[in-house]
Amino acid sequence: MATQTRHIIDTQQLEPEFMAGLFKRAKWMGERLKARDLEELDSILRLRRMFSLFYEPSTRTRFSFAEAAIMLGMRVQGSENAAEFSSRSKGESDLDAFLVLESYAPDVIVVRHDAADGLAAIAERLSVPIINAGDGSGQHPTQALLDLYTIQNELGRLRDLQVVVVGDLKHGRTARSLAYMLGKYPGNRITFVAPPEWQMGDDILDYLKRKNVVYRQTADMVPELKDADILYYKRIEAERINAPAAQLQQRYDEISGRYRITPAELALMPKRSIVMDALPRAAEGAELKVKTAAGPVTIKARMQLSPECDTDPRAAYFRQAGNGLLVRMALLEWVVKGEWGAPASISG
Ligand code: NCD
Repeated sequence: MATQTRHIIDTQQLEPEFMAGLFKRAKWMGERLKARDLEELDSILRLRRMFSLFYEPSTRTRFSFAEAAIMLGMRVQGSENAAEFSSRSKGESDLDAFLVLESYAPDVIVVRHDAADGLAAIAERLSVPIINAGDGSGQHPTQALLDLYTIQNELGRLRDLQVVVVGDLKHGRTARSLAYMLGKYPGNRITFVAPPEWQMGDDILDYLKRKNVVYRQTADMVPELKDADILYYKRIEAERINAPAAQLQQRYDEISGRYRITPAELALMPKRSIVMDALPRAAEGAELKVKTAAGPVTIKARMQLSPECDTDPRAAYFRQAGNGLLVRMALLEWVVKGEWGAPASISG
């Protein structure tokens, strides 16, 4: 690991050896949970403390982090709407806020930030570890860890995979972080499916070139499905579309209507394949509230990943969400203690 303090800021810093230890420990924790062996889990980080600050909305990440900490015996508190409820609204810098939180001596601070790459500079000033729970259109390293854990559980390997990543690749931090991760294992091939203006950023593509990962870019999803081991869907992030209020719906519709995953698309995929999505997904016609320069605008969502897919055994997205709890438990243990307990030493 690159840093002295065990900050988790991006996926580049995480190596396969680390993932192997983490996943082993996560699996062991899952077995304890299943057996309702809660005492042993509760002793792992008993009386340690976690703070969490979420400057952007979250359900899965916030709940699973809090629950992971509670399962390990930690004490937890945080702000779920930090952009409004923290003193940022009084002009306080985020660095000041973190320095104050650090002075209360927590063992870890989990933060969902609203600026890409906003956390590295803050982390440099802190000796309490911080974990990036998503930073704007930047990265989402803990999602990438649970995505990898899901792939390993579902398909039994992390290498030699044909991965089709589709949707809003420009803003989608989960897709960005996953691409970095896939580049760490040999033989993976990635197809990025999006119209040119929504395609994956050059920073990721340059990284994949350096790592000799075979990737392609296309706007056409259907021909890619027959060879896919994994279809990874990235929702269209209406809240990050940079367009005048009057054009927002049209810009959103341009792409969201184009990549719909229904049982008809699943029928084109191999029997042994999976569909992943970090979620949330929007229902057809749901109201999406988007902030624009001209004030808040409400647009109508288009269904992208159909609920009709949910009963297909290849639909892995709810299992994927559940894995977030286990992976975050194992991660918190490592960040707070610098090692895992005996049943999952990193060498095994
Ligand atoms: C993602 C996120 O917030 O980046 N959700 C999550 O953490 N599970 C994906 C998204 O918002 O589209």
